[in-house]
Amino acid sequence: MKILILGSGGREYSMGLSIYNENEHELFFMPGNGATSRLGKNINIPDYNELSLWAKENNIELTIVGPEGPLVDGVVDIFKENDLVIFGPSRAAAKLEGSKVYMKNMLKKFNVPTAAFIETSIEKDAYTFIDNMDIPIVVKADGLCAGKGVIIAQSKNEAKAAVKDMLDGNSFGDAGRSVVVEEFLDGYELSIFVICDGENYKVLPAAQDHKRIGNGDTGPNTGGMGAYAPTPLVNDEIYKKVEDRVIIPTLEGMKNEGAPFEGVLFIGVMVVKGEPIILEYNVRFGDPECEILMPLLKTPLSKLLYKASTKDLNSIEIELKDEFAVGVVMASANYPYSSSSSAEIIIDNIVDEDIKNNTHISYAGVIEEDGKLFTSGGRILVCVGIGASINEARNRAYALCGQVHFIGKKIRTDIAYQALK
Ligand code: AMP
Ligand code: GLY
Repeated sequence: MKILILGSGGREYSMGLSIYNENEHELFFMPGNGATSRLGKNINIPDYNELSLWAKENNIELTIVGPEGPLVDGVVDIFKENDLVIFGPSRAAAKLEGSKVYMKNMLKKFNVPTAAFIETSIEKDAYTFIDNMDIPIVVKADGLCAGKGVIIAQSKNEAKAAVKDMLDGNSFGDAGRSVVVEEFLDGYELSIFVICDGENYKVLPAAQDHKRIGNGDTGPNTGGMGAYAPTPLVNDEIYKKVEDRVIIPTLEGMKNEGAPFEGVLFIGVMVVKGEPIILEYNVRFGDPECEILMPLLKTPLSKLLYKASTKDLNSIEIELKDEFAVGVVMASANYPYSSSSSAEIIIDNIVDEDIKNNTHISYAGVIEEDGKLFTSGGRILVCVGIGASINEARNRAYALCGQVHFIGKKIRTDIAYQALK
């Protein structure tokens, strides 16, 4: 098949790598990064109407959308109008991520367990709600804020200040003109991914991300500093609860809303005293979760996503390797505060057979010049290790980290610690 992948991060690289390894497809990335050009061809057609015409002319048989931006902007609707096969939700269904107010209202409507909340654009109402809450208090901007729109306030005054800054448009512009204020949930987080075709669904093994910059989950939130799967922190009982209380009512509910969900539904779960409570939906694969789930698939990714995009998911079983994957994100010096200057990425000649055979790199913020790779952005790449246990996979991932160098490289050294406690 000729396959087009939208996006430029490690998530898109990892999907590309899986498909590249199937050895029978021609890959295109829009816009891709400095390393996706080693798996296929990078193209640069940012206008979705033009892109869909290009896809038509070039006989693209499957388009996969990586990030939420194009989904919220309706790229799927445009491609479908042109009779193209595309993996991802419609603009209407992508609102589950595009608006936290919409998402929380749907959770409430579908009776899905979630943190107690108020959604409002009126300062006074938010303040009254805050006055009646215990601290910490969570304040969220409604719209897309590249993962930065969530404030965990340690006092009522801090929560009120966050609300004011958002509603005034000072912190996130129009994305903050409505807010969600909600109860703080104290538990452990899981990322659960559900592949959907509008009628049927398949659940992937639960992963755990590490959102904070520092070891032991300290410091500011990031896009994610590492992930592993499957996590032993979820048992059959939790999967069953998530299926019965979250997945089934959400997919049923979205059908009734006239926005059946197709693509991958990312359920952000907080497990509190054994009960799964829903933090949020995203309408795409997580990054870096995607980078560690892709290598665990035995089922060819292209086939899985094609079937999901053509309402044929029930004709395929998802087969998984009986292994674990751990991914460690390598970020640049000033991440997540500010940008860093570009540096050359140097990878040692890996001679250890064990490392060579059981690890790989998923490239994200990289550019290519004269055959060399340079850093560009915050999260640069992910070192992925595979193994028969989490420990083995993790040791391999960290061994690979030791062989990758660039000035200012920054990693967390405790990825998967909750699973190894
Ligand atoms: P979100 O964008 O809603 O996923 O929020 C980003 C991160 O903030 C989540 O991954 C959690 O770590 C944290 N968070 C969000 N909402 C809550 C909450 N109600 N209680 C505790 N932590 C939260
Ligand atoms: N890893 C979290 C996210 O992709 O939003």
